Amino acid sequence: MDFKDNIDKNKLPRHIAIIMDGNGRWAKQRGKDRVFGHENGIQAVRETVEAAGELGVKNLTFYAFSTENWCRPKCEVDTLMSLLVNAIKNETPELLEKGVRLSAIGDIDSLPPECIQELQDAIEITKNNTRLNVFIALSYSSQWEIVNAVKQIAHQVKENNLDPESIDKAMFQRFLQTNGTPDPDLLIRTSGELRISNFLLWQIAYSELYFTPVLWPDFRKKHFYQAIHDYQRRERRFGKT
Ligand code: IPE
Ligand code: IPE
Ligand code: MG
Repeated sequence: MDFKDNIDKNKLPRHIAIIMDGNGRWAKQRGKDRVFGHENGIQAVRETVEAAGELGVKNLTFYAFSTENWCRPKCEVDTLMSLLVNAIKNETPELLEKGVRLSAIGDIDSLPPECIQELQDAIEITKNNTRLNVFIALSYSSQWEIVNAVKQIAHQVKENNLDPESIDKAMFQRFLQTNGTPDPDLLIRTSGELRISNFLLWQIAYSELYFTPVLWPDFRKKHFYQAIHDYQRRERRFGKT
């Protein structure tokens, strides 16, 4: 079945978040170093961005590097960071041409300086694009994000800028990294792992979850269409009958 032809363009997820997982295993299956998997994951990102833009999905978030990923061997972390710098540099003209606005979420200050610079440049260059928002989660974890939000709120209360009684769900959300973006309607995780790994815990309260055994470097447009097609067949109840 061609899933693309069966997608209802009027019922697209407003935001799709993706946990790109399985690069290491993909490389291992080929007798290569884990880094080979990361390098080959870039094509999957490219295809996904293109597919989302063509369909008319407005917001895409990629989980690229978690707070916990800092605990990987230094050489893998270093290579991932330099891969990232190069990917951003190489892809920016294409993003610009496709109307993609790039943003980042996470503890960006903790990244290597050249990575921060490359990111800031790409964010600046693409800031007027409106077709598709692409968020890249870097040095991100949901627990970090929530603690960070609480800290900011506490400071505001301390400085008498905020009445604790005014804190509600809508207000709290404004202190999260995703402020201004609708919560994901659909969360995709590749590689067959059935967990969230500290990603957007607050925001996925009512997201539809889609798990696929496909390893991230093998993820192609057809897999993306399949996930959206699956999503559109679900009944979302949000606690109602
Ligand atoms: C996902 O692939 C990429 C990152 C987490 C940076 P992995 O590197 O986690 O690959 P596996 O899960 O070990 O196969
Ligand atoms: C989640 O993948 C983080 C990213 C995709 C960036 P991991 O491979 O780090 O997650 P675990 O360790 O399997 O939970
Ligand atoms: Mg993994």
